[in-house]
Amino acid sequence: MDQNAQKQRAALAALDEVQDGMTVGLGTGSTATFFIQLLKQAMMERHWQLTTVASSTRSADMARSLGITVKDIDEVDNIDVTIDGADECDWSLNGIKGGGAALLYEKVLAVRSNRNIWIIDDSKLSEQLGQFRLPVEVIPFGAEQVFNRFQDMGLAPSFRMTNIWDRLVTDAGHHIIDLDVSNVNNPYRLADDIKGMTGVVEHGFFLDICDRVIIGTDPIQTMVRP
Ligand code: A5P
Repeated sequence: MDQNAQKQRAALAALDEVQDGMTVGLGTGSTATFFIQLLKQAMMERHWQLTTVASSTRSADMARSLGITVKDIDEVDNIDVTIDGADECDWSLNGIKGGGAALLYEKVLAVRSNRNIWIIDDSKLSEQLGQFRLPVEVIPFGAEQVFNRFQDMGLAPSFRMTNIWDRLVTDAGHHIIDLDVSNVNNPYRLADDIKGMTGVVEHGFFLDICDRVIIGTDPIQTMVRP
């Protein structure tokens, strides 16, 4: 089954995590977009009253264009469940996110959520994290120096670009440096090291955050955090 069909199936299955009255966190990316569309359909058919918060301007705009009310994160006390995609996921339900440049807001939602559900196709599964380059969000001021440190650490950094001239700017006004972490055996230690660097805002390792992964294969497979 092709990846798009799997993404759609996973998004549909994730509706089982939602109940009337909940506050739902909306992820970012193509799979999360399928979910937002299906959520709107379910809200109409099942007469659900939901509150939503979004992990990016893109997802907020998309949800609003469908008529879904999106609140600011600080307007909600608590997020019942966040449904998001992922760029890579291992068997321990740890992952790498940020391929869509939304890792910072995604993590803010994730740590505020009672449950985090990832919806993926099976190409995202890997034995050991590092098949996907690790996105790191950095402030523009002094970004070259952070970049050079990553180079010294042997992580083959590259700035995420929108074209050959311009660095990508995130919703929060930062840049993204992508790193090669394919040789990293301990993501926890590297995550701490990166987080401790001045100028770094957040990294795309999502460790011990996800509660359940839904893989849109036929039949659907799920992995649950013990
Ligand atoms: C967004 O920043 C990412 O964390 C996404 O969740 C990720 O890129 C998944 O995207 P797709 O659903 O398009 O594969």
